[in-house]
Amino acid sequence: MDQNQQQDTAHRPVKRKEMTRRQFLSYTLGGAGAFMAGGAILPMIRFAVDPLLQPKQQGNFVKVIEESKVTNEPQQVDFKVHQVDGWYESDPKLQAWITKGDDGTIFALSPICKHLGCTIGKYGKEIPNQYLCPCHGARYDKNGKTLAVAPRSLDEYEVKTDNGWVYLGPLKPNSRVK
Ligand code: FES
Repeated sequence: MDQNQQQDTAHRPVKRKEMTRRQFLSYTLGGAGAFMAGGAILPMIRFAVDPLLQPKQQGNFVKVIEESKVTNEPQQVDFKVHQVDGWYESDPKLQAWITKGDDGTIFALSPICKHLGCTIGKYGKEIPNQYLCPCHGARYDKNGKTLAVAPRSLDEYEVKTDNGWVYLGPLKPNSRVK
């Protein structure tokens, strides 16, 4: 290499890999766009799956009546339960016929007729020692056993007693009749 060539090389500017203005703008706008889209979409995803993330409520029991007030004669008790169904929360009113059986255990029957879902009437009001459904004449005995029309016996609530109070839980098939 002669002297002229050496001087030429020494004065040539060093080539650096620089970002062009166009690239800089693309990266900046792309990053800002992704950040804003994430800010908008993530809450929506969180909202959509929120019920799945909540712990499942199981078998809530509701205090309904003092244990000492339950007799061999069925009594109507009204109560509310708090229900969470996905995004929808409600407090429907429920009813039960609560009785102390001949064996001394307390049980509570659902008033929903097992024929087509009407509400049964008061025990013994129309027919002695029976519940009567006003819609199509289904009849049940004190334990909820079906006597006519309905294909199955009345459901019963799960029952527990604590500190002198009776609590009702979820419905289950009647366990008192065979
Ligand atoms: S709904 Fe009760 S008898 Fe039909």
